[in-house]
Amino acid sequence: MNDQIRQAVLQLKAGHLVAIPTETVYGLAADANNSEAVKKIFATKGRPSGHPLIVHVAMPNPSSGSESNWGAVLRQWSRDVSPEALVLAEKFWPGPLTMILPKAKNVLNEVTGGQETVGIRCPSHPLAQHLLNEFGGGLAAPSANRFGRISPTTAEHVKDEFPDSDLLILDGGPCAVGIESTIVDLTRLDSEGAVVLRLGAISQDQIHAALSHINSQRHLSSAQSSSDQPRVSGSLSAHYAPRTKMLLYPSHGLNQSSQGFQLDLKNFSKIAWVHFSGETINPAVQQKIVEEFLIPNNPTKLAKELYALLRKLDKLSVDLILFESLPNDSSWDAVRDRLGRASVGSGI
Ligand code: TXA
Ligand code: MG
Repeated sequence: MNDQIRQAVLQLKAGHLVAIPTETVYGLAADANNSEAVKKIFATKGRPSGHPLIVHVAMPNPSSGSESNWGAVLRQWSRDVSPEALVLAEKFWPGPLTMILPKAKNVLNEVTGGQETVGIRCPSHPLAQHLLNEFGGGLAAPSANRFGRISPTTAEHVKDEFPDSDLLILDGGPCAVGIESTIVDLTRLDSEGAVVLRLGAISQDQIHAALSHINSQRHLSSAQSSSDQPRVSGSLSAHYAPRTKMLLYPSHGLNQSSQGFQLDLKNFSKIAWVHFSGETINPAVQQKIVEEFLIPNNPTKLAKELYALLRKLDKLSVDLILFESLPNDSSWDAVRDRLGRASVGSGI
């Protein structure tokens, strides 16, 4: 065990928080079986206590035999592990998928927000796995940012979020995925099917394709949850937000001939412009552009860069971020979702 991991285990066992890298975003972790430690997460983030946390688990021990043993892992946290849950674990874990399952009796109310369900994820980042193994229990961890703000994808981002704390931050480099895990609710399989609560790198189609092999009876929901209960804080319309006002403009909506997008220029003096290459802009807007960023025309690449870019944009002293809208193609759904929420919550 290296020194950093040893330190982290000691901190967690003592009921302190540790920031951990995962392949999606950095998490602010506490021992999921220690209610005082879990409460510190809410206090540190400024997060409302009704918002449940994801429990992060280690991969099953390969030597412990058959059925690859995801069942044994899941049963520590859930009283009812469906065949669907086992299929999804087998297919997508370790990785950027969180499953909502009926909670086991022992799962703390502080973790579930008082609900009868629990979110569980097995992250693939090697440092997270190493830590989970050495710790030997579940880690409750939300993204390591202040409530409503941009999720961190590097150790420096975490430090920027909590500059005054002596939080131990495990540095695992930049996150490979860059946006939070897909969340699928498996607690209403008989009525609504597998319901995607939050989009992420694993698409609804991939989940449904995986499930279609085992079960033709249970309904596979095609809609995202319409519930307006903030059971998923990432589902609030304003989230992941920069402090600088950010407007998404339709592609070509700012070029010479466009009538479509009206921008009241007199309200802004310094604009940062983010767009795909090839986009042109009319001279009246161009005059006020002080920074320009080109984004990759690839949803996976943009997802990886998006939060770091939003943080960088927020540090410029501009009064407006003009961001070209992302394509409507479904492969852009998850990153378009994050950008939209960031824009709604911006400037506040
Ligand atoms: O990729 C991720 O999921 C990252 C990394 C650190 O694992 N974690 C993350 O956690 O994004 P957080 O707390 O920022 O977002 C988790 C979302 C929250 O919106 C929470 O409401 C939802 O998961 N959630 C957790 N347990 C739930 C449950 N039992 N029912 C419904 N939603 C749940
Ligand atoms: Mg979050």
